[in-house]
Amino acid sequence: MGGGAQETPVADDYKNPALPLEERVESLLSQMTLEEKALQLSQGVLGQDYNVNNLVGGKAQDDPRIGSMICALEDPEKRNAYQKFIVEKSRLGIPMIFGYDVIHGYKTIFPVPLAQACSWNPELVRESCVVAAKESKASGIDWTFSPMIDIGRDPRWGRVVEGYGEDPYATGVFAAAAVKGYQGETIPYRIAACLKHFVGYGVSEGGRDYSYTDISRQALWETYLPPYEAGVQAGARTLMGAFNDICGVPASANPYTLKEVLRNKWGFTGFVVSDWSSVRQLMNQGYAANADDCVKKALEAGLDMEMVDGFYRRSIPSLVKSGDLDPKFVDDAVRNVLRVKFELGLFEHPYVEVKPAAERLLLPGYKALARQMAVESMVLLKNKDNLLPLSPDLKNIALVGPLAKDKDSLIGSWRGRGEARNVTDIEEGLRKVLPSSVNLHYAKGCGVNEGSDEELQEAVQAAEQSEVILLCLGETSTMNGENASRSTISLTSPQQKLFARLVELKKPIVLLLATGRPISLHTIEPRVSSILVTWHPGTEAGPAVADLLTGRENPSGRLAITFPRTEGQIPVYYNMRNRARPYQGKYQDISTEPMYWFGDGISYTTFEYGPLGLSARELTSSTPLTVNIDIKNTGSRAGKETVFLYIHDKVASVSQPMKRLIAFQKVELQAGESKTVSFTVDPARDLSFANSDGRRVLEPGEFEIIVKDKKETINLK
Ligand code: NOJ
Repeated sequence: MGGGAQETPVADDYKNPALPLEERVESLLSQMTLEEKALQLSQGVLGQDYNVNNLVGGKAQDDPRIGSMICALEDPEKRNAYQKFIVEKSRLGIPMIFGYDVIHGYKTIFPVPLAQACSWNPELVRESCVVAAKESKASGIDWTFSPMIDIGRDPRWGRVVEGYGEDPYATGVFAAAAVKGYQGETIPYRIAACLKHFVGYGVSEGGRDYSYTDISRQALWETYLPPYEAGVQAGARTLMGAFNDICGVPASANPYTLKEVLRNKWGFTGFVVSDWSSVRQLMNQGYAANADDCVKKALEAGLDMEMVDGFYRRSIPSLVKSGDLDPKFVDDAVRNVLRVKFELGLFEHPYVEVKPAAERLLLPGYKALARQMAVESMVLLKNKDNLLPLSPDLKNIALVGPLAKDKDSLIGSWRGRGEARNVTDIEEGLRKVLPSSVNLHYAKGCGVNEGSDEELQEAVQAAEQSEVILLCLGETSTMNGENASRSTISLTSPQQKLFARLVELKKPIVLLLATGRPISLHTIEPRVSSILVTWHPGTEAGPAVADLLTGRENPSGRLAITFPRTEGQIPVYYNMRNRARPYQGKYQDISTEPMYWFGDGISYTTFEYGPLGLSARELTSSTPLTVNIDIKNTGSRAGKETVFLYIHDKVASVSQPMKRLIAFQKVELQAGESKTVSFTVDPARDLSFANSDGRRVLEPGEFEIIVKDKKETINLK
């Protein structure tokens, strides 16, 4: 068992919960040997998961002094037994922290995070994270590697599915909601959140995962750091370092981001874990020469815990003994890890209460929430002649396409311990609610990646008998997520072939797009009547789609990420800066406008926006501005509208985006109802911009206040 201090009697005052936390930390730290410290900073893997894009698997470590395990086990009894070994067989009895990728639910699976953002309902996001925390903790998980808050502006990058879209402010709002959901409950339902991947991972060159990123300090502060700052302010207790190499200094060993920003500027007191093998990968990145060099660079930069490789546990003791590593770096990292373990109550409650699965997983209330989240996250992008909701007079409806019954894809990538067998698919969801007088003709038509003439023919037959075609196309769950970059974002060829054949029938088509990334729709859109982006909706996919198609619910999702026409437009996102020649520099071959903008989405009802009511036109930095806007539901059914408030700083010492989101509100309006939506703009917070040192700069001059197509100018003195 190593260590050399086995004979020293242990002063166990650190086990006393009545003592101040920092005293407990210091008492324990002062008794730890170097080997014990190095092990406390190491993470192993236990059990096996099913994510084919990130297969996690491994055996229990036999040294009970190891600090953490990724716990791909489902059985809380096994987890408790292993914890017992750790607590009872190690000299100091420091409990293990069990982490896992609970990204959009543990067993009850919610829509993928990108979809959740399209709900524009942070409270629902928070509640879904509460459910994820409860299911996880009851299954033995103390810590989730979520939320993923990398800005997604390149849909070729498969991991856009895991984040909250392209906007820094919105991502920060959802990050805070997720952190509060995971960590907000009392023990024993609280788990630690992990903001990842710190930072800039989504900028990977060419959308290729794990690649180099060229990110200026200005861009870091303006776009990539704000969601992390919001998550840290919300109380996130851990962060995960990213794989990318930021302008030559890898994120996993980057003293600027890990120390100067995170610790010194933001005062973060939790711990940072590396990503999988990212300490070892410093060698691949050409930043470290050997294992010792990797460890020294990562630890000195502020990376507290190492995921998987065991470099920390092997190199730290010898590096310190040889004088090549100052022990203060080790102590600081151990303090950070112990602090979080104390805060989570692991010393007092190392074991989880074991309840039967039926009492802790997939509870009716959890599924109801997953259904509501799915309903609110789906985005209606087109609805010609109000084809949706489906008319009750329809007698024959075709349901076609590879995603209609693909349960495994409908729960999406990173499904925690979610299982396809617990998913209600789209056909099942529709059959439950359609009256018996309606014939639903189902045919798969093709697979996502392969197809046969027979399948195609069956689809044509189903469609020929029907008045309308519901066409479920998109991506499988393994086409997005980690290690799932694509050079094209169009539908696969078997799906395009099926689509082309069905279009020939000249029947109205409703495209149900089940995807984890924006799909290029420029050749599809003109030939369909309606488009509903369902994303990968999770366990309650079918009921949610059925609720919307039948009009029991009204679509209210709005895009949190722009849909390019083709991948040639990438990057394209709403908060771009203006061109030097706005009237030129357009593509010769396609429109410069994307297919759909961030914020797009329609409803079965219509909303009318009144003029902007501003409390002042002339402002000082300390006068808050009130912006009022009347919204009226001018249609014949109740609906929800998200009101987005943008600003544009017209002239600044650092040029600013054409518009920048500073607030949003989702409101529900009955048919004919009007409401006044009110925002308070705090000039110091909302009209300032970040400079390249991370300072907020507020400059006088003209600002535009923008809501939908309304725009007013104010003057800041
Ligand atoms: C690698 C992924 O990048 C990260 O997001 C995940 O949390 C770890 N693997 C653990 O599975």
